[in-house]
Amino acid sequence: MPNPLFIVLEGIDGSGTTTQLGLLERHLQGRGRPVHPTREPSGGPVGRLLREILLGGHRLPDGAPADGLAMALLFAADRRDHLSREIEPALAAGSDVVSDRYLLSSLAYQAQEAERDWVATLARDLRAPDLTLLLDLPVAVAAERRRAAGRALERYDADDVQARVAARYRELVAGDPRATVIDARGGIEDVARAVAVAVDRLL
Ligand SMILES: Nc1ncnc2c1ncn2[C@@H]1O[C@H](COP(=O)(O)OP(=O)(O)OP(=O)(O)O)[C@@H](O)[C@H]1O
Ligand SMILES: [Mg+2]
Repeated sequence: MPNPLFIVLEGIDGSGTTTQLGLLERHLQGRGRPVHPTREPSGGPVGRLLREILLGGHRLPDGAPADGLAMALLFAADRRDHLSREIEPALAAGSDVVSDRYLLSSLAYQAQEAERDWVATLARDLRAPDLTLLLDLPVAVAAERRRAAGRALERYDADDVQARVAARYRELVAGDPRATVIDARGGIEDVARAVAVAVDRLL
């Protein structure tokens, strides 16, 4: 069995990470590789809590949203749990792991509400992905895709937040040999082809 790969899809909300997760899973399976698809927030206890908070749950009676630093800690806790409970065992069993979001999401999103260095410290010693694919597209296009999909408004969905997250993502991957920027403006199949080309370079 070839070396199992840990591949991560990243991008602003509506950039297509979930769509591409399924297509990349099929692509790798077509290459004869076992694949474990997963996502963050994970399906574990902290991940489930995070999903509820992101959709506006668990507010105090005064409507106050969860504290940004507390959110960063929860994302970091979920990632540790996700890694030890799901990602590492799958890789050890010989599967490629493809994750819809991982560390870069915290560095791009949580660092909007907490100090960058502190967010980075929370991520120390995490397994680094073999390849991170950044699905890059204009904020307005992503917002239109979310609207067309009838997506509920989430915590980080304001256009100005998304614009800052998009800019930070680009800074984070610039010059990183283990990251590739994918032009996500094209149709689903076009984007899938670009993702496949980037992944096939590792096989
Ligand atoms: N390349 C594309 N062209 C047009 N529409 C697309 C493309 N990729 C995805 N979509 C559509 O855009 C919507 C959002 O896609 P998707 O759910 O994959 O994005 P996402 O990045 O996972 O979003 P979120 O961050 O909210 O989870 C879906 O309705 C999907 O069918
Ligand atoms: Mg998604």
